Amino acid sequence: MSKHIGVLTSGGDCPGLNAAIRGLGKAACDRFGMQVTGFLNGFRGLALDQSRVLDSAMLSGVLTDGGTLLGTSRDKPHRMNIGGKTKDMTDAVVATYQRHHLDALVCLGGGGTQKNALRLVEAGLNVVTLPKTIDNDIALTDRSFGFDTALGIATEAIDRLHSTATSHERIIVVEVMGHRAGWLALEAGIAGGADVILLPEIPYDVEKVAAAIRQRTQRGRRFSIVVVAEGAMSVDHAGQVKELLEGKAAATEKPERAEFSERLKQFHEEHVGHTIALTRNLEKLTGQESRLTILGHLQRGGTPSAADRVLASWLGTECARVLDRGQHGVMLALQAGAIVPVPIADVAGRKRLVPVDHPLIAAARMVGTCFGD
Ligand code: F6P
Repeated sequence: MSKHIGVLTSGGDCPGLNAAIRGLGKAACDRFGMQVTGFLNGFRGLALDQSRVLDSAMLSGVLTDGGTLLGTSRDKPHRMNIGGKTKDMTDAVVATYQRHHLDALVCLGGGGTQKNALRLVEAGLNVVTLPKTIDNDIALTDRSFGFDTALGIATEAIDRLHSTATSHERIIVVEVMGHRAGWLALEAGIAGGADVILLPEIPYDVEKVAAAIRQRTQRGRRFSIVVVAEGAMSVDHAGQVKELLEGKAAATEKPERAEFSERLKQFHEEHVGHTIALTRNLEKLTGQESRLTILGHLQRGGTPSAADRVLASWLGTECARVLDRGQHGVMLALQAGAIVPVPIADVAGRKRLVPVDHPLIAAARMVGTCFGD
């Protein structure tokens, strides 16, 4: 009997999702004779049983499309907003899986999706995941698809900002995505020749950033490009977050932990837009006119790069092979040039942050880049 596979995309979208769905769907249907059903809008479609049958013909022509043909959401199976109320929809998800007689479910997603997938594994479902995110911060994989495209977009933006920064002798601050991990800021900063790179992993001192810019001015370089990850923090802010995290870890009672979580959430909400203040401060401290560009969702939109199409297609087709073998409970990871299955349990809840002694940081420092530390 042919196998029946479900597939969904969850979390923030990114370029390469359609390439991965196409790789999986075509290989599953044509090579392994499986049936494939796509669930719509992430785990919501699974909870509410909203789906469409996928076949090879309808997956033709989607390789280069941005976004996801299945739609996506940040819904979690165990905490979903249904008609204004938060509900645990895990049983509904399991019921949909059984109603469709699925042999396995493939979830394409980032860190949050890996955690949700693990919950479904624990609920008894056969799940395989694929790593996607422009943040490139999923544990145990060298790359996630989406990252290369975002890197290209951010680099092109920095190149373009360079010429206007030079013409006006300005400081231009460029905010790129990355709440917890600074891979995009680091690599786009290096590729675009940024003078300052600020990462979530290295708390910065604005005085040191200003000093580095003033030093450039003294040397006759009358413009500066500052690339900042959205999650970068000053030393003061990082200290406050650390205190809250330590408080939460030490809290023994549930309400006390919830209180810390709420304060952390508030803190992060207030931190949005911090690059506006940073830009103003740099102008004040250096006396040099400054401007801010927030790249935002531009970095996630549009057609995937060649490298992302290749990686996503490879992961998708390998996934069909893994499903044919009957293997599950794994994420397919890129490790040292090969696609390998790793337990979802080893990935969920872990983030791959930039190590502060990473060779790329050392390389950037060698060409004079300031990290604000
Ligand atoms: O997880 C990827 C990511 O692009 C982050 O870098 C960013 O902070 C976040 O998604 C924003 O997502 P959204 O606006 O879709 O909630």
